[in-house]
Amino acid sequence: MQSTKAAIISAFLDNPLAFVSGADLGEQLNLSRVSIWNHLEQLKADGFMFNAIRNKGYRMEQEPTALHAELLQALLTHAPCPFFKSLRILDSIDSTNSSASDLLAAQEPAPLCVLAQQQTGGRGRRGRIWHSPPGRNLYLSIGLRPALSPARLQTITLWTGLRMAMFLRNSFALPVMVKWPNDLYVQDRKIAGILTEAKVDAEQTRELVIGIGLNVNIQPHELPDDLQSSASSLAIMKGHPLNASRLAHALLQILADALGDYFAGAYEDELCRLWPEFDYLNGHMVSADAITGRVQGITRTGSLRIQRPDGSIAVLHSGEVSLKRQ
Ligand code: BTN
Repeated sequence: MQSTKAAIISAFLDNPLAFVSGADLGEQLNLSRVSIWNHLEQLKADGFMFNAIRNKGYRMEQEPTALHAELLQALLTHAPCPFFKSLRILDSIDSTNSSASDLLAAQEPAPLCVLAQQQTGGRGRRGRIWHSPPGRNLYLSIGLRPALSPARLQTITLWTGLRMAMFLRNSFALPVMVKWPNDLYVQDRKIAGILTEAKVDAEQTRELVIGIGLNVNIQPHELPDDLQSSASSLAIMKGHPLNASRLAHALLQILADALGDYFAGAYEDELCRLWPEFDYLNGHMVSADAITGRVQGITRTGSLRIQRPDGSIAVLHSGEVSLKRQ
């Protein structure tokens, strides 16, 4: 069920170039003209712009750049994403990963998705904080109950990152790369990270949460000091702000397709074929744990191959890799 605000946005999305009269809107939504006017004022305060012409009505001229719950709802009404059995768009939460995990534990139908405008306790890998200010970026988590052997968890993160990178390349003409195992980079700066968390028993993954943080509109001065030289955002790279709601809508469909293909088993050849084109580390000297050497792609199960100086190959299943600048 759409909220009134979402229904009003929907009516404008139905008529993207046309003027919609206040009277027609009111009739369609069973609201008085005063109530329509009040809602339009609220939408203006949210960052929408309308062109109002006497006797013609209103035309939506601009949408907000920050993730807007009702705009995303309206977009999903127009082009639904049935893969997700439940989808929540929250103002603020500690972590969308924790929220998705709680929903799975509470037997919410899956696949489910939680998005938030901000996170007060956003988590990165290895206990790090994920900087999650309001109104700038995308924070979302997908909750699944997959019948998947724990050994296959490695490739689901790589596959998700790869499909996201392909989508961002196609949409924004940016040279997006994937840094094994879970980061998206553009020109040596991180723009997104994926945190995959699983509840596993002896032979199966019971619950799986794939959390994605994508820097969309954050500006350089808003990045914390320790990220100043290593992080970026799509808006910084493009030089203008982006519509985060439309981006979220498209990304949900990409993720649904990617996970659908993954669970249908249609990913392994594609992952191996495409990886070299997206591999940020390929051919570079790296160090990881006690291993130093040159990256030689991934194995079919998604582990990183590192060639040591003596020519032997080390296979890294998980961990943190740092580039050694030469
Ligand atoms: C990393 O690069 O360390 C992974 C970052 C993952 C961040 C996302 S934001 C949405 C989801 N909720 C969290 O608390 N973390 C993930």
